[in-house]
Amino acid sequence: MPFPPVVHQLAAACRDAGGRAYVVGGIVRDRVLAELQGREPPPPKDLDIEVHGIEADDLQALLRRLGRVSEVGRSFGVYKLSAGPLGLDVSLPRRDSKAGPGHRGIDVQGDPHMGVVEAARRRDLTINAMLLDPLTGEVLDPHGGRADLAAGKLRAVDDDCFLEDPLRAVRVVQFAGRLGFSVDAGLVALCRKADLHELPAERIWMELEKLLLRSERPSVGLRVGRETAVLPRVLPQVRGWERDAAEVDAAVDRAAAWQPQVGRAPRSLALMLGALLHREAVEDAEAALLHLRVHRSGRYPLRDRVLHAVAHWRELVGADVDDTLLRRLAEDGEVAVVGGVALAASGAVSVEHVLRRAGMLGVLHEPLPALVQGRDLMDLGTPPGPTMGRILADVRHAQLAGRVGNREEALALVRSLLDG
Ligand code: CTP
Repeated sequence: MPFPPVVHQLAAACRDAGGRAYVVGGIVRDRVLAELQGREPPPPKDLDIEVHGIEADDLQALLRRLGRVSEVGRSFGVYKLSAGPLGLDVSLPRRDSKAGPGHRGIDVQGDPHMGVVEAARRRDLTINAMLLDPLTGEVLDPHGGRADLAAGKLRAVDDDCFLEDPLRAVRVVQFAGRLGFSVDAGLVALCRKADLHELPAERIWMELEKLLLRSERPSVGLRVGRETAVLPRVLPQVRGWERDAAEVDAAVDRAAAWQPQVGRAPRSLALMLGALLHREAVEDAEAALLHLRVHRSGRYPLRDRVLHAVAHWRELVGADVDDTLLRRLAEDGEVAVVGGVALAASGAVSVEHVLRRAGMLGVLHEPLPALVQGRDLMDLGTPPGPTMGRILADVRHAQLAGRVGNREEALALVRSLLDG
């Protein structure tokens, strides 16, 4: 799939100005991997471009001729170019050096003349350190990324630079799961050494979210997360990293396979988090989600759905699941998520029948609609107050138990309760 025209225009303008522009980062990795696997490359997302041989001021002027430019970091030469719907992150090669602890304490300086090999040295993994010339299609691979992609191996570009950003240790867990790759022994040792204390929870969550949503077998990432001690350190609220390893690994892989049945994110994310946390006490699962600042996703109550599933999945495994239970679970949770977690945790085929039954009852994703409301009772002469509340609760109870199935039956029940 070709790059959008603006990428070629930018690359041609850079060449005419005596420099070179390369596409860099994950998009090159994904393209080379697709090529190795004989697949179509994924469609281009937001693109990272690295420009060599042009001074910051000249680059800025050049970019202005192509679209709207905002400076992300003028001092180190990072610009955002908006041209139509596409966003290009354009940067000069830069040197990062650690100025303080953690992810934020990094001092960065742009240097257009440092050369491709040096520039790629500051990247995290060899597979992420390739450069693609959009004018010729040539891939520059100064650190052996292609061979590591072919071998299915994650390797640090440079042991001395890798830990300048400790988030990279979490990225290793994410990429291991997402790509199904093994991790070079030297890189395991580096990740074990990473100081993860100062990492912002949001950044950790971004990586875990990718691991959970984009892996065919997330257990590969969990295994690396345990081996490198990254997961127990970034999420100590989870007690079962080691204790429940086998069960959780099996559950997240089954959940990943079941994801399409539950729907897209955030529902699929609720399922995956439920599978990950299914053996935790609800309080510990809640502490983990609070730590990651997982609350809502848009209007979807992600944390509540996960915790409800962690609390109730066991009720859907086994022989005696009746319709009342399904209707009740839909009152304050989502049966598709509870059932998905039950299926992931147990592997029991019976849960699939239970989920089909919930679909037939209309309670897979939401509770049953109310059959009568306060105003119906007012029409029958009941003023708002405790009696009205009690009668509405009784009718709801009867509806959940399957004793009333439509509005007429519900109104008949109301009348008999008012008479009695
Ligand atoms: N990078 C890095 N260290 C980090 C983050 C990013 O070296 N902590 C470099 C890598 O070369 C990476 C590129 O910056 O490929 C872009 O990073 P990012 O957009 O975060 O991720 P991608 O690798 O592009 O992967 P994804 O497909 O998840 O976007």
